[in-house]
Amino acid sequence: MTLASASGKAILFGEHAVVYGQPAIAVPLSQIRVTVQVEGLDPGTTGVLIDAPDINQSYWLHEADGENPLASAVSLTLDELGVKAPVDAHLTIHSQLPIASGLGSSAAVSVAVIRALSAHLVKPLEVETISKIAYAVECIHHGTPSGIDNTVVAYEKPVYFIREHKPELIPISTPLKLIIGDTGESMRTTIPVSLLRERWEKDPGTYGGWFEEIGEIVIKARTMLETGSIESLGTLMDQNQTLLEDMGLSSLELQHLIRAARKAGALGAKLSGAGMGGIMLALVEPDSAQIVETALREAGAKQVFTTEVDG
Ligand code: PMV
Repeated sequence: MTLASASGKAILFGEHAVVYGQPAIAVPLSQIRVTVQVEGLDPGTTGVLIDAPDINQSYWLHEADGENPLASAVSLTLDELGVKAPVDAHLTIHSQLPIASGLGSSAAVSVAVIRALSAHLVKPLEVETISKIAYAVECIHHGTPSGIDNTVVAYEKPVYFIREHKPELIPISTPLKLIIGDTGESMRTTIPVSLLRERWEKDPGTYGGWFEEIGEIVIKARTMLETGSIESLGTLMDQNQTLLEDMGLSSLELQHLIRAARKAGALGAKLSGAGMGGIMLALVEPDSAQIVETALREAGAKQVFTTEVDG
């Protein structure tokens, strides 16, 4: 039996603007993971059996439709590994990540599947190749992904990311304590991404200006991360959130959780990922983590994750 896993991710700064060429910063959430187990098949069966019991799915690779992201992750990996002979394997996938919520569930599933198959077949893959395969799967999920999710999950390191540029791994001098609140409203990435595109096409001046402002926040945030200026990072998160609100990407539930976190003493809070639902994240001093976590639960968060990120 082979086991492999991949972390979730959170975008600290720059979501959406990153699709339009601005930089963004994302971090892995190593404590929240997807695990994939690969075993042999029961006697008398043949092929690749994919089981995802958390979402009640079980099917054979050859029966899956071409748009199925899990099946695509398997097929693209086998192609990349140059496997010609039929493979017999039973994959079981377990995830701690809520789906379509901004925590990178789709990228994490892909990366865990790719790692598991490559380990099972004893054919190692470079991290860049793992990221490339996961990106191809992301393109099936949503048409124009920037590539930030597959990159941060594959490298499992904080990244400063500009679309179509080599990702820069950035050191984080002081560990970041993040509290993540899930609104419980799942939102497919394509919806906010295409809505924003329509708005930008109607008013490129205003939206382009906002994207640039976000880009400036990201550049400042990189310096703050490197110098350990945690309080200023919180302020930048709030500024990024204001711009995301201006662009219409927040939601009442997100606002409610963000306000609750700030009131309980968070240094800053914002939505993370595609928005219009999904998760928010708050940056906290270690000694206020418990208070913010409780405040988010009381404000109605469906799940709360407390996690620490270091460089
Ligand atoms: O919500 P997620 O994890 O799919 O993140 C989407 C991030 C966007 O910037 C909104 C889109 C992208 O492709 O970068």
